[in-house]
Amino acid sequence: MLKVGFVGWRGMVGSVLMQRMQEDGDFNGIEPVFFTTSQVGQPGPDIGVDVPSLKDAFDIDALKALDVIVTCQGGDYTKPVYKDLRSAGWQGYWIDAASTLRMEDEATIVLDPVNRKVIDDQLAKGAKTFVGGNCTVSLMLMGLGGLFEADMVEWMTSMTYQAASGSGAKHMRELLNQMGTLRDSVGEELKDTSSAILDIDRKVTAAMRSGDFPTDNFAAPLAGSLLPWIDSKLENGQSREEWKASVETNKILGLKNNPIPIDGLCVRIGAMRSHSQAFTIKLKQDVPLDEIEDLIAKHNEWVKLIPNDKDASIAGLTPAAATGTLQVPVGRLRKLQMGGEYLSAFSVGDQLLWGAAEPLKRMLKILRE
Ligand code: HSE
Repeated sequence: MLKVGFVGWRGMVGSVLMQRMQEDGDFNGIEPVFFTTSQVGQPGPDIGVDVPSLKDAFDIDALKALDVIVTCQGGDYTKPVYKDLRSAGWQGYWIDAASTLRMEDEATIVLDPVNRKVIDDQLAKGAKTFVGGNCTVSLMLMGLGGLFEADMVEWMTSMTYQAASGSGAKHMRELLNQMGTLRDSVGEELKDTSSAILDIDRKVTAAMRSGDFPTDNFAAPLAGSLLPWIDSKLENGQSREEWKASVETNKILGLKNNPIPIDGLCVRIGAMRSHSQAFTIKLKQDVPLDEIEDLIAKHNEWVKLIPNDKDASIAGLTPAAATGTLQVPVGRLRKLQMGGEYLSAFSVGDQLLWGAAEPLKRMLKILRE
């Protein structure tokens, strides 16, 4: 029976992972051990099977006794502990949600509905380090995997509309506090349906710009606004989030030596936990739209094709519709005015499920096959 250690299982991604594993009975048939950075010796979580008390997440000897380590603790944990463990000769499987190791040669980015073959090839070669991809990249590939599998994409732009959860739990709370502050600043005026909307707007804008507005986490108003920058700046002017689109997609697909150019702008919007993306896709050939729809819809069981009309789009192609589900709706599929080789698409997906926890959960299952 595989002895599997879990680190960072109480955080947001870790909690979603725990929930999904319990839903699918994934704790049966493994020996789970839970680790902590602050509560050593306390009872482990109630997951329906017996677990030992919590162990120290920095105890290299305790970690060395494991066959698999699944960590959602973040990069600050991965950096020192992974290195120490491997230096100590540990040969187990490391499954990680953090981006720290993603682009290392020894790491495989996991998204098995898209790159099962790459994962199997790496396992056959003895690979032991498996890392979840960036959320927008994983969600894009879950939605458009059919086009990549058919080798139809010459290049692509991705313009993102990313939810607050991508920044963390505190940011989600801050977004809600910002929303509430804006609403409360005009509570009386809203009760009076005849009050002037431009007065309301002036007050809301003043509240948003005031020094009291809660911006400790985002550093700027997000509610009623947006933030056209995610993560740090690279020398070429891309944000780090934008850089990931191309390098991670091509690594996931095993196209490092013949990469497909992918670039765009990453934007934070006031959604809670589902990321959306608008794509311009330059196809290698002018393929009829119905064939394209067919390839996209049949690629995996989670992609959900949304007809390109208004009612279907506003009902099914939104964060409100996708959140909390494993479905990845893809719609707004049409040929752009630039010509038959130019395709538009829009996708949505829960950033904590396919964007974070689900690929890790599935990688653990692959190790048990
Ligand atoms: N970097 C992503 C974001 C989340 O900021 O939305 C994690 O992949």
